[in-house]
Amino acid sequence: MQEIKKYVEENKQRFLEELFELLRFPSVSADPKYKGDVLKTAAFVAEKLKEAGADKVEICETAGYPIIYGEKIIDTALPTVLIYGHYDVQPADPLELWHTPPFEPTVRDGKIYARGACDDKGQFYMHVKAFELMMKTNTLACNVKFMIEGEEEVGSSNLGIFVNANTERLKADVVLISDTSMISMENPSIETGLRGLAYMEVEVTGPNRDLHSGVYGGAVANPITILCKMIASLHDENNHITIPAFYDKVVELTEDEKAALNSAPFDLNDYKKDLDINAEWGEKGYSTLERTGTRPTLEVNGIWGGYIGEGAKTVLPSKANAKISMRLVPHQSSDEISAIFQKHFESIAPEFVKVKVTAHHGGEPVVTPTDSVAYRAAEKAILTSFGKKPIPTRGGGSIPIVALFEDVLGIKSVLLGFGLDSDALHSPNEKYDIYNYYKGIETLPLFHKYFAELSK
Ligand code: BES
Ligand code: MN
Ligand code: MN
Repeated sequence: MQEIKKYVEENKQRFLEELFELLRFPSVSADPKYKGDVLKTAAFVAEKLKEAGADKVEICETAGYPIIYGEKIIDTALPTVLIYGHYDVQPADPLELWHTPPFEPTVRDGKIYARGACDDKGQFYMHVKAFELMMKTNTLACNVKFMIEGEEEVGSSNLGIFVNANTERLKADVVLISDTSMISMENPSIETGLRGLAYMEVEVTGPNRDLHSGVYGGAVANPITILCKMIASLHDENNHITIPAFYDKVVELTEDEKAALNSAPFDLNDYKKDLDINAEWGEKGYSTLERTGTRPTLEVNGIWGGYIGEGAKTVLPSKANAKISMRLVPHQSSDEISAIFQKHFESIAPEFVKVKVTAHHGGEPVVTPTDSVAYRAAEKAILTSFGKKPIPTRGGGSIPIVALFEDVLGIKSVLLGFGLDSDALHSPNEKYDIYNYYKGIETLPLFHKYFAELSK
């Protein structure tokens, strides 16, 4: 531990500067206009892995953005840790809400503000620096493989192909991922589950063209009104989702599991205050932690139609659209839920309109084990560096690749994230505490050490 702290202390400034360099690349995978920048980011990551001491570093081309691979095999008798992360980021919009530009990392109050600061550049780069540390101090305890992708934020659609084609190369004993949150630095925690995702887009068409709302209004259905009614009908008065068969495969937690989940430190008043809401909302019969960690949900992510420009225009629009996503829990399948959503949404369309439903990317839910050697190693690493045993929690977000690693490679993951829910992921003013960044770099070598020791 002393040696780790010493190395971090001596290299602190450089570790931060390198992360800043990484954050300056606008690697937005969703927007083709950033293609050149995303590719430059990939090259940067590959270069940094090489510098840190990785062998066989390769920028692996895919049909989309490349996957960076690198490894250090020190002894085939030792366990192997496969580190996964993503170098792509979400779009920075709405730009006007950022206090400082999203791709000019800025430190305020000990926090780095930039798109990707926490999700996931700040977090995966901790692994690159922890690896450098272990190489330089001759303390690498496990074999290491890196797989850093560039399409996580757009659904990792080419990653499955890559994983299937590289099962031998990716062989490992555990997948280690830092792309999730902790409760707080005082209450360190490890997420032991992620929700799945089914993402849909719907289009409701009324008349074959936009109409004068005075000439036709009142005699022709307005697709925006119809779409709003259809969307509103997807939840009942208890905020249960009304799609038939939606909950069929959902398993209720046992009373013990519920008690354990709800024993995590959580203050509903602080939560409401932080979000500036007077009351929380959700499915009747479940606590807030149960709602986000263990229950499936349906959210409208965006809705548009008609005139939204300056001033007023009297129009009865031809079309209305929405993007709707559902978070899934164990045993629900993304394809199945997409199909039943489509069927249901088409079935509730009144005769005045036509409905088109299409599916975007999805992902399967996972629960990761807490009785594995890898989990115990993570627990011990946190205990050593934070002085507190981590609390197992269930995360509400999705990392589709985790289920894929299990299915294709048969490897379980450990979600050793150092972010906070308040880090504004996908929002303006995303941040990552410098403290968390260094704390992560200090904790990760301990994971490798304990994983090797406990694997014996
Ligand atoms: N790192 C997040 C997921 C996450 C965040 C998990 C916080 C747990 C806690 C990841 O980059 C992400 O944003 N995933 C997307 C899904 C993806 C298919 C676009 C998500 O959860 O919306
Ligand atoms: Mn992420
Ligand atoms: Mn994300």
